[in-house]
Amino acid sequence: MTPPDASADLGARVDAAVTAALAAIETTATTADLQAAKAAHNGQGSELSALNASLRDLAPEDRKAAGQTIGAGRARVAEALAERQAQLVAVEEAAQLEAERVDVTALPRLRAAGGRHPLSMLVDEMSDVFVGMGWEVAEGPELEHEWFNFDALNVDPDHPARGESDTFYVAPADRHMVLRTQTSPVQMRSMLTRDLPIYIVAPGRVYRTDDIDATHLPVFTQIEGLAVDKGITMANLRGTLEHLARIMFGDEAKIRLRPNYFPFTEPSAEMDVWHPGMRGGPRWVEWGGCGMVNPNVLRAAGIDPEVYSGFAFGMGVERTLQFRYQLDDMRDMIEGDVRFTEQFGMVI
Ligand code: FA5
Ligand code: MG
Repeated sequence: MTPPDASADLGARVDAAVTAALAAIETTATTADLQAAKAAHNGQGSELSALNASLRDLAPEDRKAAGQTIGAGRARVAEALAERQAQLVAVEEAAQLEAERVDVTALPRLRAAGGRHPLSMLVDEMSDVFVGMGWEVAEGPELEHEWFNFDALNVDPDHPARGESDTFYVAPADRHMVLRTQTSPVQMRSMLTRDLPIYIVAPGRVYRTDDIDATHLPVFTQIEGLAVDKGITMANLRGTLEHLARIMFGDEAKIRLRPNYFPFTEPSAEMDVWHPGMRGGPRWVEWGGCGMVNPNVLRAAGIDPEVYSGFAFGMGVERTLQFRYQLDDMRDMIEGDVRFTEQFGMVI
């Protein structure tokens, strides 16, 4: 049944199929394209595959030559596929290597991991000075009862500091709650809950209606200290404060106690610090308040002032940071600008 010109016709069809296949292979841009070209031109259902299948319809004496023609065509296509495959794989590998290139000489890009604020770090550093001497860290609430913030500390009901012009009262008024104006209420809380002797520091946030300026914030940090033991004297207070000052400001730092009045200490003093690196030159600046615990306060806590005595102090942590690093403006500490914290070597 084979037409007389079957072999000539077959040769033309193979050539046409091979030409189409080579053209398709040449225009592929990716190995995926090439897979598609291979399926279309050499796979099942392709022209070459159909021609191959038609061999069985040929007369046996024609089959060998026809088979060779088709086989040669398929071999050319297979060769072209292999060659193109090698080219495309090379291109794709190069692109992948470029995309995944690691420049081992590049500077590392630091991830913004966040960092601790210099004030939090200073609170820890100051607390550690005392922990290193065997003191404990105590805590009290920022939302405090008026009794702890004032009455227990011997502050008269009509003392000006209790006025609404100095203190944030929290509604409802009959609950007598305030935002603590000082860390001193932790003194009474500690005396009521701890066994004697007591050696504690209590750092924390306090609130006052103070106007904000370069040396005042309405929300700031204090660190309170309280020592109650037998035989505690003013000399112990002074030595303790001097020790802290030297660690904070260097060996040349000095402190000075100026007589002052606090209802919860007697005698009371304002504590100034001096160190050569103070902003604006070596000079005295107020750092905190201190004194010997008032016997009335000891008595209110059920401690016999004939047997025990104590000293207490409270200083500003923002002031400590300010004096230590000659910072012009305390407001920089609360504005959250990372350029401020970066100056203290924070990782950000
Ligand atoms: C007190 O608050 C007393 N409780 C200190 C005390 C404790 C006395 C124990 C006796 C015994 P004063 O109001 O002076 O004292 O505040 C203490 C320190 O807090 C100041 O010296 C200053 O360093 C800091 N300070 C006060 N007001 C501000 C403010 N608005 N902003 C930042 N720091 C402040
Ligand atoms: Mg003061």
